[in-house]
Amino acid sequence: MTTPDPRLSAVRALNRVLPGKGDGESLREVLRDFPLQGADGGLMRDICFGVCRYLRPLNHWLNQQLSKPLKPNAQPVRLALLAGLYELWFSDRPPHAVVNAYPALCRKLKAPWAAGLSNAVLRKATALTFADASQDFPATVRHSLPDWLYKRWQQDWPEHADHLAADNLSAPPFTLRVNRQQHSRQQAIATLDGARPGNLAPYSLYLSPPRPVAQLPGFDNGALSVQDEAAQLPAELLQAPPTGRILDACAAPGGKTGQLREKYPDAELVALELEANRLARVRDNLHRLGTTATLLQGDASQTDWWDGTPFDAILLDAPCSATGILRRQPDVKWHRKASDLPALVDLQARMLDALWPLLTPGGMLVYATCSVLREENDRQVSAFLQRQPQARDVTPRPQGATMVEAGWQLFAQPDGPDGFYLACLRKDG
Ligand SMILES: C[S@@+](CC[C@H](N)C(=O)[O-])C[C@H]1O[C@@H](n2cnc3c(N)ncnc32)[C@H](O)[C@@H]1O
Repeated sequence: MTTPDPRLSAVRALNRVLPGKGDGESLREVLRDFPLQGADGGLMRDICFGVCRYLRPLNHWLNQQLSKPLKPNAQPVRLALLAGLYELWFSDRPPHAVVNAYPALCRKLKAPWAAGLSNAVLRKATALTFADASQDFPATVRHSLPDWLYKRWQQDWPEHADHLAADNLSAPPFTLRVNRQQHSRQQAIATLDGARPGNLAPYSLYLSPPRPVAQLPGFDNGALSVQDEAAQLPAELLQAPPTGRILDACAAPGGKTGQLREKYPDAELVALELEANRLARVRDNLHRLGTTATLLQGDASQTDWWDGTPFDAILLDAPCSATGILRRQPDVKWHRKASDLPALVDLQARMLDALWPLLTPGGMLVYATCSVLREENDRQVSAFLQRQPQARDVTPRPQGATMVEAGWQLFAQPDGPDGFYLACLRKDG
């Protein structure tokens, strides 16, 4: 059996994610269809993430080199050229090996006409660094962001927009959650070379260099889970009685459901999710942790799935723009459109309004998003607080937190948490 060429696989995967015309698929989902292992898998994933991350400046520079534009049906060739540029400017692979790999790749793509072009473009790029090549590009192009998003960040966060933009180009850290039912964080750190504790979430740890989960001791038995540090905060801050009734309202793939189970092993935990196939992933994730919950398929903006018994605590990890995790899911910036936002903001508001009456007086609802857009976050929660006089914002805000109208906005930190928002809302009673 011949081993698949990792560069060819990368171009094929990218062609589904960034098809040139029409909607692309999610990079994470597409990568499931390319189970390359070891160094080949590493090279393929690095190219896919790198091209998505730096798409805009790579394309801009490439277009400047072309005497006539590439035809729309030459998208695989374009992606191959972008992959070559990414490798030359951002990897430590020897430039001659990179330059030599791409003419052959063009032939494998059944585009022998592009072999000479690839050779010429990549050879020219070897004489430059990315900083040289992009120094005169407009800021949005250099930051590799869609115009609408950079503009929105400048409006929402005039002091942080450039930090957010720079951060979207960095590689995310590898962050784990320790299963407190199995061991302490110190014990987990002692078994892992290169582990250090996170500062915000008590069971978080960072592992450098990252490694496949199969190599993590006890992973298959749920001793550790992959989860960003900021994403660990909502479940940590949610307060519920030990044997209370807890709703995880948008549960899939179940990262926070598992965490809630680790924190509240004796609670009655209900996990609600709209999509049946995603609900199956919650089941699988809980299975790995050796636990279960009541799994319901239903719409969190309605109450037709509810049995009438109130919840002591509700976690609403709402669908959102995902603009806080672009370094982790760089394809999202090309798939998300400004026109998606009104529907998301409306859905989040309807979920808050539908779930609030299900909360027992004195109970807590934690609203969370992995967004760094105010209309999904503090403005959303402020508007909710206006509509619900029984709701009080009791979110802890550590020293140095960015002041917002309600809740706690986190920005991504290098080697630290992702961009995230959460608000702890207590129901008077
Ligand atoms: C941000 S993700 C949740 C991540 C999850 N809490 C975790 O930690 O693994 C949002 C989830 O909400 C689901 N969703 C979207 N609309 C929904 C709705 N109307 N009702 C319930 N779930 C919904 C999506 O399918 C997605 O799985």
